[in-house]
Amino acid sequence: MDAPQTLAPAVTRRADYRPPDWLVPDVALEFDLDPVRTRVRARLSVTRSTPDAPLRLDGAGQVPLAVRVDGVAINDWRLDGDQLVIPLPGDAHLVETEVEIAPEQNTQLMGLYASNGILCTQCEAEGFRRITYFPDRPDVLSRYTVRMTADAQRFPVLLANGDPVARGDAGDGRHWAEWRDPFPKPSYLFALVAGDLQPNRGSFTTMSGRAVELAIWVRAADLSRTDHALHALKLAMAWDERTYGREYDLDVFNIVAVDDFNFGAMENKGLNVFNSRYILADPDTATDADYDAIATVVAHEYFHNWSGNRVTCRDWFQLSLKEGFTVYRDQGFSADQGSAAVKRIEDIRTLRAAQFPEDAGPLAHPIRPDSYQEISNFYTATVYNKGAEVVRMIATMLGPQRFRTACDLYFDRFDGTAATCEDFVRSMEFGGGVDLSRFRRWYEQAGTPRVSASVEHRDGRATLRLAQRVPATPGQHDGQPAGEPMVLPLCLKLFGAQTGRALIEERLHLLDEANQTLVFDGVGERPVLSINRGFSAPVIIDSDRTAADLAFLSRHDDDPVARHEAMQQLMLDTLVAGAVEGRADHDAVIDAVSATLAEPGLDPAFIAEAVLLPSEAFVGDQLAVVDPEAIAAAREALRRTLGRRLEAQWREAYDGARAPYAYTPAAKGLRRLRNVALGYLSASGADDWARLAFTQFGAADNMTDRQAALSTLANGEAPEAEGERVAALDIFYQRYRDNPLVLDKWFGTQALSTRTDTAVTVAELIHHRDFTLANPNRARSVLGGFGVNQRAFHAADGAGYRLLADQLIALDRLNPQTAAKLLPPLARW
Ligand code: TRP
Ligand code: ZN
Repeated sequence: MDAPQTLAPAVTRRADYRPPDWLVPDVALEFDLDPVRTRVRARLSVTRSTPDAPLRLDGAGQVPLAVRVDGVAINDWRLDGDQLVIPLPGDAHLVETEVEIAPEQNTQLMGLYASNGILCTQCEAEGFRRITYFPDRPDVLSRYTVRMTADAQRFPVLLANGDPVARGDAGDGRHWAEWRDPFPKPSYLFALVAGDLQPNRGSFTTMSGRAVELAIWVRAADLSRTDHALHALKLAMAWDERTYGREYDLDVFNIVAVDDFNFGAMENKGLNVFNSRYILADPDTATDADYDAIATVVAHEYFHNWSGNRVTCRDWFQLSLKEGFTVYRDQGFSADQGSAAVKRIEDIRTLRAAQFPEDAGPLAHPIRPDSYQEISNFYTATVYNKGAEVVRMIATMLGPQRFRTACDLYFDRFDGTAATCEDFVRSMEFGGGVDLSRFRRWYEQAGTPRVSASVEHRDGRATLRLAQRVPATPGQHDGQPAGEPMVLPLCLKLFGAQTGRALIEERLHLLDEANQTLVFDGVGERPVLSINRGFSAPVIIDSDRTAADLAFLSRHDDDPVARHEAMQQLMLDTLVAGAVEGRADHDAVIDAVSATLAEPGLDPAFIAEAVLLPSEAFVGDQLAVVDPEAIAAAREALRRTLGRRLEAQWREAYDGARAPYAYTPAAKGLRRLRNVALGYLSASGADDWARLAFTQFGAADNMTDRQAALSTLANGEAPEAEGERVAALDIFYQRYRDNPLVLDKWFGTQALSTRTDTAVTVAELIHHRDFTLANPNRARSVLGGFGVNQRAFHAADGAGYRLLADQLIALDRLNPQTAAKLLPPLARW
């Protein structure tokens, strides 16, 4: 059934795209559902587009139990690899097939599978062919009718895409339900769910006055933890109407949460399926970060209804068309829920942690790749997060009004079609009245551009010299050492070093050549450069700004993102010096952090982000030769001095940042600051840090504070804090052992610990009785956490590599997609 493991899969190339030979305007599916053996009958009305071509349907090794054409059984079909090939004489036929599949055996979690007694589907990208024979490609759009029959007791709820049309008794304790989706869609958006589920119901009235019934379906025991997700859904629906003029289009919108899921969630038309970690929350079990992520993912999947479903992708090379755009949209939504600056800072951190390393390594690829072997492996930080940055740059260049006009044009023109990135860019050009010819290089080239910036000041004139260098894209432009210059929208401003005044007001400069020089006259005092404000382009800036300049900007820049960047750069330079030279001058960082903590009126959420040190991995990314021990030591040393020298300020922040529990931006910011302060108090080595943390751990009325205290204790290595550390981990385990999502935190906290024995702990955790590779969340909590724990994972004896490799080889057999997602740490150096 499976191809021999040694054969590399065939390569699919973007340049080879051909429209489908046959279309399938309508499809009717009948499911006789059972976890052990499910029978699937498909009726496809097919219409010819290419003369003479036989009908080729994708499958995944199933045996066709019956094939009928226009109601008559045929036997001149054949199997060509996994494809079912049917010769058809005319231009329109009704083709019927029957197969049997085994949901319970499906450990890949692609196609129809079972999760804790719930039957559900995941079809993106190529899972539908594991359910039935079909032209499983996104440019074949069909209207679906789905009839499900199942045991009425085990599967009282039967859901599919679109609207419910009928239901009834099927005898023998079985029942049936029929659903119809009026919107033509590609097979990857198909979904069904059968299970013993309860709804949290709500309603939403769209801007044109249509009532939509909303429901979030979970097991009865989880129902009390669905209010936040339902609320977020309503906010997202209203936001998309307000911001993009996009209205929902069906009478019902259903969301189902399942415990076993390869990704975060899936935007199936009218029936989103979620990993339960992005639905379930209450203050006792979910952190503020969890609440935020739930709102973001709920919004993301909802926004796909337009950017992905109504306008879908022609082929999988266009994945960023829906994912980059939809991430950009969900980022905008989340920015509008609280502090936009803090949200942007978090998004930049994610980009640097996940996407920049990808772009710098052997797996670098453009946001629109030219070829792939396995599309599942292209759901990358590049396609998603860099893709979002590319849309953001277009929005920045167009400005809000023209960007909205261009988006309207795109949605109107391509509604109901399978589009390309080129269609999107062209819409932006028409709607925005701009020429994006050169900007298209963002779709063609990989690698993070580096911009060097230097300012010279003489006789009242400031000269800004900019140069960009784009690394070569692996496998492209053979032999060429570098890519072509990109179009980089750089937001700039100059401040006076003495007065702090704006010498040059903020402006957007398009750097679109390798080198450019900008001249500013009337600059009376030494200028300090603020560049890439708002992180207007996803690039690395190398500037000649001194530590004093960065310290200045970290206090006086009026763009919070640039201010944060300046602080990060100052810290990063200090950490790099410490790692390379074994020691570094900490004073500039200490002064900057102290000033930030003391500044009246500053948003606590911003302060908390600003005083955080860059991660060990980010420091490593700056170095040609990475010494994980030296980096960890340098970072620990800086944390310790910051903790000691500013102990009074950390205490003041810790005691001052208190508020009754509420999930509001203000209360969230205070919790964040308080917990960052707790971390620094522990780094200071003050006698009472473990007692403070343990008290917080015990008294907390919310998971944010409890988990932060637990992490602080779990990182501790002082012998006198050992009692608290062990006790906290034990109490936490006993309290939450029956809640899988919280137990994931218990595993993850230990895998992420900065303690020197973490590799040993992780080796033990994978033998813990609650550890299993079969559940993706659990596998990710330990292996994903460990993989990004630089010092533990990259231990000089190679034990970390061996451990992860062994686990991933085992996981690959069960669930190759989740295994592949955990691979990047092995591909960085
Ligand atoms: N399209 C989903 C999203 O919103 C991603 C996704 C969910 C996915 N499940 C998947 C991708 C399985 C590939 C395979 O981003
Ligand atoms: Zn998506």
